Amino acid sequence: MKSTASAPGKVILLGEHFVVYGIEAVLCAIDRRITVETRTVGSGITILSGMGSARIEPGGSTDAALAPIAHIATEAVGEFGHGTGLEITVRSDIPPGVGLGSSSACCVAAAASITGVFAELSRDEILRRALEAERTVFGGASGADTAASTYGGAIRYSTAGGFDGLRVRDLELVVANSMQAHSTGEMVRIVGRFREENREEFDGLCARASELTGDALAALGRGDRAALGGAMSESQRMLEAIGVSNARLRRMTEVADRTGLGSKITGAGGGGCIIALADGPGQRRMQEDLQELGCECFTAGIDHAGLRVETAVSRGGYFI
Ligand code: MEV
Repeated sequence: MKSTASAPGKVILLGEHFVVYGIEAVLCAIDRRITVETRTVGSGITILSGMGSARIEPGGSTDAALAPIAHIATEAVGEFGHGTGLEITVRSDIPPGVGLGSSSACCVAAAASITGVFAELSRDEILRRALEAERTVFGGASGADTAASTYGGAIRYSTAGGFDGLRVRDLELVVANSMQAHSTGEMVRIVGRFREENREEFDGLCARASELTGDALAALGRGDRAALGGAMSESQRMLEAIGVSNARLRRMTEVADRTGLGSKITGAGGGGCIIALADGPGQRRMQEDLQELGCECFTAGIDHAGLRVETAVSRGGYFI
């Protein structure tokens, strides 16, 4: 038996970190994916991936990068397939650890692929399992990234209200990788400390972040790229205020803003990627300028499919 599923990475247009404290964020799934293939084998659970490979022993410890997959697999075997062995292979075209949602996409694709050899589960159930797995390594995850990866397209997301799909015109973004790795958990802890020490200022920033989300939703609705870019740049200044930017990321946004409409960190910050909006001819120039700074650059469009089951276990009408 074999089951293959893939899920897209994401960018956060607005609201990272503030979303952890209840503010609504706006995200897009992007056209880069992680694919997970699961085969049933005689016994044991083996994971093969670019992040490392491991045989999962009951009660044994697993490398943090593979722990969410191990969690999904051991839960699924316990629930559906007592004694079944699994070989799980992960392939990715999303750079890891740079704010593009590779770990969430991996959890979503793994939850669909692994459970797919045993049962037909709804997208909501796949999302629930993916988020539970992600929280085994990053307990504070808001769930925004896994929702974008599962459902695709552009979404608004809050921890209280969940997600809503948005109707948006196609949006092409420049993504520039600072080539500095970051830890999302560590960056969320830094913001937590900032909040404890500067409660009044943080509450004011949350209120402004919420207004900015409203501005960005209105701009997206009317296809106003200049207004969206302006909201993104203001969001960057707020991310700087809470301590998740650094000199290199700031320089990258300054360079992007010479030719673009707005730019900001995407994801946890402290390294990772920025996203920038540009118009036509400005886009190529912007990428050249950012490459001169030593960044890896590419353009990302919106992925509208979200979770995709590439090979289901000979069952029709797989996901609802
Ligand atoms: C990470 O992509 C986004 C954060 O807001 C954390 C989260 O929402 O779980 C920094």
